[in-house]
Amino acid sequence: MKKYKIVLLSGDGIGPEISEVSKLVLKKLSKNYNFDIEIIEKLFGGIAFEKYGNPAPDETLNQCKKSDAVLLACVGDIKYDSLARELRPESGLLKLRSALNLFANIRPVKIRKSLIDSSTLKQEIVENVDLIVVRELIGGIYFGNPRGHITNTKIPKAFNTMVYDSAEIERITEIAIKIANQRNKKICSVDKSNVLEVSQLWRDTVLNFTSKDKNISLSNMYVDNAAMQLVRDPSQFDVILTSNLFGDILSDLAAMLTGSIGMLPSASLNNNGPGVFEPVHGSAPDIAGKNIANPIAMLLSASMMLKIGLNEEEAAENLENAVDKVLSKGFRTADLADRSSEVLTCSEMGKKILDEI
Ligand code: IPM
Ligand code: MN
Repeated sequence: MKKYKIVLLSGDGIGPEISEVSKLVLKKLSKNYNFDIEIIEKLFGGIAFEKYGNPAPDETLNQCKKSDAVLLACVGDIKYDSLARELRPESGLLKLRSALNLFANIRPVKIRKSLIDSSTLKQEIVENVDLIVVRELIGGIYFGNPRGHITNTKIPKAFNTMVYDSAEIERITEIAIKIANQRNKKICSVDKSNVLEVSQLWRDTVLNFTSKDKNISLSNMYVDNAAMQLVRDPSQFDVILTSNLFGDILSDLAAMLTGSIGMLPSASLNNNGPGVFEPVHGSAPDIAGKNIANPIAMLLSASMMLKIGLNEEEAAENLENAVDKVLSKGFRTADLADRSSEVLTCSEMGKKILDEI
């Protein structure tokens, strides 16, 4: 029997509630598909800061490095906003990404037929949306040096550096090409090369690198236009390739096309070594502990983990289908509900999905 060791980081806010659902689902899938999954739980984020004074303790990072894959719920809470930057949960997340060299963040945005009415956009605009944001994850302005505060000025001043070298751009472009080749072979690279030197290098490098693959049709867009096009006509996109900061912003925007950010999974990958699979949404501290969160984005992240991280394609597909079946029967968590839907709690939604597996 195949044996996998995964690390589960349930983190903060609604994290523990949605993680409970994921654990039950993974256990059932492992039985049905005849593999063994050892789930090692570790502290990460605000909760790790509370216990160890560090949002990404070495013990947690080391365990992640030794695993087959990492499933992460979410981290953060406004109560940590006043901490020194390196102690905040978000910094822990950046440290994890960087420690595992997860340069490629894959965020699929696909409309689920049964949720078409949940979108804030008109049905005819969103019905054919099926795109993937490929976001560079461990470079750019998030990690660039120098950065910091300047203290000897009359008024407070602070700065960051948006920097890429061509090798960083090439390796993420390579991932985008690989993904595009399994889809409609269209890449739209998003930058701000009308203003930024770093974006000009991005554009030139992507163009140069992509020209090696004659199957790919490449287009370029400035990020402001891309934001506009994503709400004007989102189905024009297949693969969106972009840098860390632009990908962060555009993926939230794209998530909303589906009706709820509570639906979107993501995978953060390296060319070898374990990936981190996590929902795009945050920790939603305002609804934490109320058992009303939507567990689906984390379940779909678990499905991506099964498929990409563990090569358990059938189990992954079963889970995705189970989610669709439950949604098509009209069951919803509060974030997705309209007047006609039956509103379930987080654990009830988990139970319904479990029953379809
Ligand atoms: C995301 C999040 C993170 C990011 C934060 C929590 C650091 O917004 O994964 O999109 O900005 O990358
Ligand atoms: Mn984000």
